[in-house]
Amino acid sequence: NQLVIAIDGQSSSGKSTLAKAIAKALGLVHIDSGAMYRALTLYAMRYWGDKLTQLSAQELEGWLQTQYAHMQISFVKDPQTQQNQTHLNQELVESEIRTMEVSNRVSKIAQLASVRTFLIDQQRLLAAKGGVVMDGRDIGSNVLPNAQIKLFVTTSIHTRVQRRLEELKITDPNVTYQEVEANLKARDFDDENRSLAPLIQADDAMVIKNEGLTKEEVLEQAMKYIQK
Ligand code: C5P
Repeated sequence: NQLVIAIDGQSSSGKSTLAKAIAKALGLVHIDSGAMYRALTLYAMRYWGDKLTQLSAQELEGWLQTQYAHMQISFVKDPQTQQNQTHLNQELVESEIRTMEVSNRVSKIAQLASVRTFLIDQQRLLAAKGGVVMDGRDIGSNVLPNAQIKLFVTTSIHTRVQRRLEELKITDPNVTYQEVEANLKARDFDDENRSLAPLIQADDAMVIKNEGLTKEEVLEQAMKYIQK
């Protein structure tokens, strides 16, 4: 199976959910590129703690250069759910990378040139053999411009906040609607305005508006397009 599918969209637009469903339906491997930026952010947070926000971009890049060789980010299939789980140096970090703390830091770190080069090289390697559905911000436009299928997922800010709140309830029961909304808007701004590979819709992407649709309806729409 040589198929490569790129799915992009804003945070919590439903792109990962759709990517997982497509992977399951077509027997593809799902790669969540955002999880890689999150795992790298967690690595930096563990080392620097609260001092992380005080570092300049230059200081952070300088330190990261000494760390890339020691930072292994990988995906391991969970035997029960059959879904990929993010690992950082062999440690399962799938839940820890989804916390508000990581969400609040990740977009700034994702702007750094060396971070993008480091992770994008790995993303391309992961997709090189085909049989992959990868989701993110710049997958169709930059990471995998030759993907046979490109989807761009959109939905309202309200739905995105609700979705994120549902997910966060498990790990962060005290998180508020306002806090999540502010985080999503700040990340949209950072992701859409950065100089390197910002979030944009690839010219040849098909737009999927999933507002008001169930997961199944969104999958059906995507599958019709994929199988055309
Ligand atoms: O998709 P998710 O919200 O988990 O991604 C976390 C962050 O990683 C995004 O806010 C964005 O800053 C960054 N990211 C990126 N490029 C990608 C995927 C994610 O810059 N392809």
